Amino acid sequence: MRNLLDNRRAISRFDSEGMLDAVGQFPDYMSDQLSAVLTTVKRTSRSKFRNMIFIGMGGSASAADVVLDWSTSKLTVPAIVHRDPVLPKFVNSDTLSIVLSYSGDTRESLVAFREASRRGSRVISIGTGGRLQTLSRELGVPFLTVKRALAPRAALGQMVVASALALHRLEMVSDPKTEIEVTIRQLRQLNNTIRPRVPFSRNLAKQLARSLNSRFPIIFAFRTMGSVARRFKNQLAENSKIIAKCSLLPEAGHNEIEALSDQGFPLVPVFIRDPLGSKPERNLLESFLSTVKLASGIIPEQVRLDADTRLGALLKPILLLDYVSVYLAFLRGIDPTDTPWIRLYKQRQ
Ligand code: PA5
Repeated sequence: MRNLLDNRRAISRFDSEGMLDAVGQFPDYMSDQLSAVLTTVKRTSRSKFRNMIFIGMGGSASAADVVLDWSTSKLTVPAIVHRDPVLPKFVNSDTLSIVLSYSGDTRESLVAFREASRRGSRVISIGTGGRLQTLSRELGVPFLTVKRALAPRAALGQMVVASALALHRLEMVSDPKTEIEVTIRQLRQLNNTIRPRVPFSRNLAKQLARSLNSRFPIIFAFRTMGSVARRFKNQLAENSKIIAKCSLLPEAGHNEIEALSDQGFPLVPVFIRDPLGSKPERNLLESFLSTVKLASGIIPEQVRLDADTRLGALLKPILLLDYVSVYLAFLRGIDPTDTPWIRLYKQRQ
């Protein structure tokens, strides 16, 4: 029988709003955002900030995670991604706050935004409009507009680029343009190998989706790839509507590894490997992997894509795994786009 994922007509029945196309446009969205002119953010010397906080929820916060993993080795001040309306005490007039909300109407993000402004923090906001844009205008906060996509989670590329350009403008990081351009080229090449028209027999994303079907994915990664692991867990929830969990290494080797044997339900460990990882990290991974195989009796899935740049090392697996989450939705007979329970939760706030 022909594989369902190779049957365009069958899968289009589940994809009424076009999530597959939205995933495939990831590199194009990045490219469009790169040409946007950034005049709203006034240049400031980095010595002005003593710390930095990214504020956001869900898909918008995922973009912040990527930016932080990308720039963490270059930043000279401590920085966090914050997913909560209540700000930490350290946020004050020495803090750079970057608020990301695709819709601009997410309550938790708006509360934190107001509080950051009230404390005199230098705030930059990023999104498509909504209350965030209105409030930013009222408070004189620069607002960076990103291109609309099918859903917030499909706008990760443009939010990453907008954040990176803003950080550069504020002299927090060096000019990211060349690295972004190289990454866009790499993403386009990868896209050609995993898009829907590439048959199952040659399509890594379709194969991984089939392997995860009817199983409970436990995603492992080192901190350097933490944004990718968390993003995948969230995409599996929002697109495929399945529960997964993600854990960081090496910590999981000191606790969770104990719980992988005899669980009585079909686990699938998924390792997201850092192509630019160090030798000690690779050694730790081999110890963990081989122990997991013994403990669970399961051959884990591994995601390892070569990349020339740190941004590529993060975004290539994100593109692959975004496809996986959408293909998995089709295998489960589900339309990936609509998220009615998130909507209801937001309405009830
Ligand atoms: O991907 C999604 O739809 C969600 O995770 C949203 O990103 C989340 O609810 C926050 O909304 P927004 O990104 O519009 O602030």
